[in-house]
Amino acid sequence: MTLILGIETSCDETGAAVYDLEQQRILSSVIFSQIKEHEKYGGVVPEIASRSQLEKINSIICASLQEANVSIDQIDVVAVAQGPGLAGSLFVGLCFAKGIAWSYNKKLVGVNHLDGHVFSSFLKGVFTPSNNLTIEQNIGFPHLCLSVSGGHTSLYLVKDFGSYDVVGQTIDDAAGEAFDKIAKVLGFGYPGGPIIEKLAQQAGFQDYFHYPRTKPRGQEVFFSFSGLKTAVLYDLVKRGAYDLNVGPIVQNLTDELKQQVASSLLVCIGDIFVNNVKIAFKKYPNIKSFTFVGGVACNKYLRSRLELICNKYQKNFFFAPPQFCTDNAAMIAFVGGYKALKNEFSDLTLDIKIT
Ligand code: KG4
Ligand code: ZN
Repeated sequence: MTLILGIETSCDETGAAVYDLEQQRILSSVIFSQIKEHEKYGGVVPEIASRSQLEKINSIICASLQEANVSIDQIDVVAVAQGPGLAGSLFVGLCFAKGIAWSYNKKLVGVNHLDGHVFSSFLKGVFTPSNNLTIEQNIGFPHLCLSVSGGHTSLYLVKDFGSYDVVGQTIDDAAGEAFDKIAKVLGFGYPGGPIIEKLAQQAGFQDYFHYPRTKPRGQEVFFSFSGLKTAVLYDLVKRGAYDLNVGPIVQNLTDELKQQVASSLLVCIGDIFVNNVKIAFKKYPNIKSFTFVGGVACNKYLRSRLELICNKYQKNFFFAPPQFCTDNAAMIAFVGGYKALKNEFSDLTLDIKIT
């Protein structure tokens, strides 16, 4: 039995998970989210994030071992997220992982955080301690993967475990960042995605204001969201609901207007995704599966839009279970597992990679 302890501290979540490589089962996944600590600042404050990681890391790892019902002696490999992410946060997980590897004589694997997201679609079902997760066997290679979070928006051609090419990516902001920033303009805290989804649902997912969509560049897959953010802001100024010097004009920024903005924004981002996915399907007609991963893949509306287009093009659609869309250590342990199989171990000089 090869047991992998996964550690994830890239940003504002402290995660630890145990993965049984032989049985292909996630035995535990514990996560502490710092959302409450950053909410009032409208975004993640790096200094607060790293201090909070330091406070939580030991107890989260202990909890993950306990939940898996294994002791540290039974762990064979420590897999740790190396980056990209916030330097201070990454250091906490990496130093802890090195400490465990050195003092208990375990093998060490550095895992790229983005690889974690890309392969999170293989984590199947809903995890509870009594219902260990199995691994999705039907995705296959090559497949297309749309990975969208607060830091990235990329479409990949995934050729094998650990091997993928960028088909297209954002040239400026990530889609998650657009949700976060526009939610902030509307007066909401971080993260913005879930509240935008809720408001959009209240407005019936209608396209009230038809914000500008990025124009396709021929057959090229590419994303851009910074212009969209500005367009939403200036539209609110035009409607007398926002002043660029003062901020929201509360009497005009009504609940109804907020819902309509959120709804138009979500439909717009849905259209941008669908347009790009169609281009990718034409470019790679033989691929059979499409996966949607990253924090933004929690969004049910976007999932349903992508599922629809997959059905139309006869592709199998997979998305990471919501608990593994946002940052988590199960995806790090899983990637650590196939890296261990390929003997891709690191020594104690392993360093963080912030980009
Ligand atoms: O993957 P993740 O946890 O962290 C990064 O690596 O960035 O993604 C966080 C992002 C945030 O921008 C958040 O607003 C977005 O995922 N998000 C959502 C939803 N839940 C989280 N966006 C849209 N709809 C959601 N339901
Ligand atoms: Zn992430």
